[in-house]
Amino acid sequence: MRVRMNGSWYVGVDLGTANTLVYTRDKGITVNEPSVVAYEKSTSEIICVGTAAERMIGKTPAGIGTVYPLRGGVIADFEFCAEMLCEFLKKGAGLFPGVRPRVIICVPYGISEIERRAVLDSATDAGARSVYVFDEPLCAAIGAGLPVLGSKGCMVVDIGAGTTEIAVISHGGIVTSDSFKIAGNTLDNAIISYIKQEFNVLIGEASARDIKEKIGSAHTGSDIGAIEVKGRNMRDGKAAEFVLYSAEVREAITESLDSLFEAVRSVLDSTPPELCADIYDSGIMLTGGGALLGGLDVYLHERTKLPVMVAERASECVIGGIGKLIRDGALREKIEKMVIHASDDAMQFPKIQ
Ligand SMILES: Nc1ncnc2c1ncn2[C@@H]1O[C@H](COP(=O)(O)OP(=O)(O)OP(=O)(O)O)[C@@H](O)[C@H]1O
Ligand SMILES: [Mg+2]
Repeated sequence: MRVRMNGSWYVGVDLGTANTLVYTRDKGITVNEPSVVAYEKSTSEIICVGTAAERMIGKTPAGIGTVYPLRGGVIADFEFCAEMLCEFLKKGAGLFPGVRPRVIICVPYGISEIERRAVLDSATDAGARSVYVFDEPLCAAIGAGLPVLGSKGCMVVDIGAGTTEIAVISHGGIVTSDSFKIAGNTLDNAIISYIKQEFNVLIGEASARDIKEKIGSAHTGSDIGAIEVKGRNMRDGKAAEFVLYSAEVREAITESLDSLFEAVRSVLDSTPPELCADIYDSGIMLTGGGALLGGLDVYLHERTKLPVMVAERASECVIGGIGKLIRDGALREKIEKMVIHASDDAMQFPKIQ
């Protein structure tokens, strides 16, 4: 007997380094939580996942550990990843024993076959009946509303926590692209290093992320002001408190921003001239949580001389694109060929019932 799940055979998943989102046809986005697992160290048994697990980071007793099962956009801890995914599917798609959805999931463009297989297996272990793995930048572009099926080229830059995906898309396919690991987490680490060097103070990853999200700025026009930072003095080990300005954060992340620009330029350099001409008109669409960095659009515009836009709901573009694929049969048919991998019983992309 085929069991119907919440009125749909399909569940969408954006399995991100920092955040995982689940989408169902009936309810839209049902889960948007950090990709974190808290576990019992002696047994590796999971205590909780997502927001509850994130709250425990850095505050757990000796017997409890916390882990992000993905690093740089790929699975670093397979067991925890599958169990986390299973919990999110239960929560977001009403998954219960015996109910096995078809899962549409995205992976960074250009990851290895083994890494892709790990995502596929992880979703299967989490209870999926079949798995369709799509390219993340393509889904980001669809979610951002770019005309991916048209003959004119369009460019998307999806900046997550672990990877940045740059792609030029035309006729429903990726023409040129790059995927590299300078993304949100890199900026956080750059801020940690800067504060160590300039203030002799040690701060944690969560504090660095908070600083970046609150006062981070890629361009002088977006300087927001200052924030009070608390950390530990590296000389005497005592608590330290000081004020950090947007301009200092910009200094900390300058090298990473330069690398981002160089990567965009290199993709443009390898793009056929006709498509480049299209992009000179249509510009660059920024998606992913990293796109929300203050003034990043202005910075990239000044360096590339191209129009640069930040997508609406930038951090939900990938899952939004998956959602469109689930809802829009005609679109799905046209980009069907871009199912880059599927478990054995998923080779034919079945119609949504
Ligand atoms: N306002 C903001 N300014 C700067 N960065 C931000 C802002 N809001 C979120 N971010 C960053 O966006 C990143 C998370 O984005 P997103 O959820 O798209 O990543 P992900 O999909 O989990 O990662 P990946 O796609 O690399 O696997 C984090 O590094 C976060 O700090
Ligand atoms: Mg992502």
